[in-house]
Amino acid sequence: MPTVLIAGGSGLIGGHLTRHFKDRGFRVFKLTRNPKKHGHIHWDPQSEKISTSKLSRIDILVNLVGENIGSQRWTTKRKAAILSSRVQSTHFLSSVIPQMTNLKYYIGASGVNCYENLPGKVFTEEEPYGHDFLATVVKEWEAAHQLILHQVPGSILRISMVLSRHGGSLHLMKQPVYWGIGAPVGSGSQTSPWIHIDDLCRLMLFAYDNKLEGIYNALGGNDTNADMTTRLAKWLKRPLFMPNIPAFLLRLLLGERAILVLSDLRASNHKIKQAGFSFKFTSLDSVFKSFFKK
Ligand SMILES: NC(=O)c1ccc[n+]([C@@H]2O[C@H](COP(=O)([O-])OP(=O)(O)OC[C@H]3O[C@@H](n4cnc5c(N)ncnc54)[C@H](OP(=O)(O)O)[C@@H]3O)[C@@H](O)[C@H]2O)c1
Repeated sequence: MPTVLIAGGSGLIGGHLTRHFKDRGFRVFKLTRNPKKHGHIHWDPQSEKISTSKLSRIDILVNLVGENIGSQRWTTKRKAAILSSRVQSTHFLSSVIPQMTNLKYYIGASGVNCYENLPGKVFTEEEPYGHDFLATVVKEWEAAHQLILHQVPGSILRISMVLSRHGGSLHLMKQPVYWGIGAPVGSGSQTSPWIHIDDLCRLMLFAYDNKLEGIYNALGGNDTNADMTTRLAKWLKRPLFMPNIPAFLLRLLLGERAILVLSDLRASNHKIKQAGFSFKFTSLDSVFKSFFKK
């Protein structure tokens, strides 16, 4: 059975993806700065150190590395960490690919927030990068992934907001709604692409099985912030009566990172569907039902 190495495998997506690979009988190793368990391999991309003993056994490499973009205010220092944790670590990974003599396939994580903020437009993978901070990060991150893709076949997935029962954005949205103080943010009409974590993991396995190459938007649907809040309140059986949280207040509280909830983006998943992938979760109700229906 193939052996998978997940760089950044200790995070939200990596944990879930590990289960999907193991269910298929694959052996999984994780590259982490803090090895704690059997199956963890130590690396420190900043000082360019990596434990090399198992590298020749790796068949599939998945790169999910990156400082969390939502957890802290975007100071100059934080922005540099968000960028370098993705770009520098991917450059370092590309330098050790020659030691992965068995490597057959690579999957690089990227973000769908790479397009211009043009409300109403549906972005396909062919559209140019935007010009804000996240778009710049994605542009450099994908250029770094390409250094690996010059050495081994693989794909880049432009991941949208990952919906999981166990953490990430949904966990943050859920808290206020659960306590009855939830409300849409800004006008509430801004749209975000999202993907159920199971579909994302299935998509990664699909990419490997079909040896997909190129860049793919990874999203199950696009919904407005108001729709998300309303559907969430319905599934949590909570009332929703608070007024919208004004955009200016969010910008005051969160600074520039308020764009994560205020930006208005619609993306297309036509390309991955054309490649033959079928999403299990294409509506918010189907997602929330999978999480909250007893
Ligand atoms: N979750 C989403 O909604 C979403 C949406 C779009 C794109 N993505 C992208 O998908 C990737 C995985 O997402 P996730 O939600 O699983 O992220 P996560 O839970 O924050 O995990 C990211 C992993 O990256 C590693 N990491 C963080 N900072 C690092 C640094 N400075 N140097 C080396 N490693 C570092 C950490 O591993 P160790 O601490 O074990 O070393 C961590 O477990 C990220 O790159 C993220 O930007 C996620």
